[in-house]
Amino acid sequence: MEHIKLSPLITEQQILDRIKEIGEELTAKFKDKDVVCVCILNGSFMFFSDLIRQMDCDFKCDFLGLSSYTGTQSTGEVKVTLDLSQSIQNKHVILIEDIVDTGTTIEAIYQMLRARKPESITTVTLLHKPEAQKNDFKPEYVGFSIGNEFVVGYGLDYNQQFRTLPYIAQVQNLN
Ligand code: IMP
Repeated sequence: MEHIKLSPLITEQQILDRIKEIGEELTAKFKDKDVVCVCILNGSFMFFSDLIRQMDCDFKCDFLGLSSYTGTQSTGEVKVTLDLSQSIQNKHVILIEDIVDTGTTIEAIYQMLRARKPESITTVTLLHKPEAQKNDFKPEYVGFSIGNEFVVGYGLDYNQQFRTLPYIAQVQNLN
């Protein structure tokens, strides 16, 4: 039996306030453009659904399923478990990610989607761990920069646990 302690890091209100700001910036940038918002599953479904409701422009939604993590360790391999259901050729793609840690996942997705010839790709991540990043990929929009700690809540999990917490908490595994 694992003993896990959670320390709250970012409150629900801080998350919602920041999402409103990002939503306004995306609205200003993409109003009247042909946009596809891509939810990177699984972790970003909650961020995605709150963010798109703060965007006042016409866009399509799509979902990209990926897996790369076991427990708190990245496997370093990015596996596509569900592909997009539509063409993104000549479209403005907004990639909506939960967290950029080593940067491996977002870089791999970016390269994969670039090859499909979209008009542009803009990356939005709720959380960014700059100290953990192993490449120089720069997300255009970052909700919060955090330290090199494992976090859960608001869609993010630890072995499928804690996704439904409405706030972000740091995990301390006491084993
Ligand atoms: P990266 O490829 O190392 O940047 O990892 C990106 C993916 O790993 C994210 O989309 C998350 O699913 C997962 N991940 C990275 N850090 C955390 C964390 O602190 N908590 C939960 N999931 C994480």
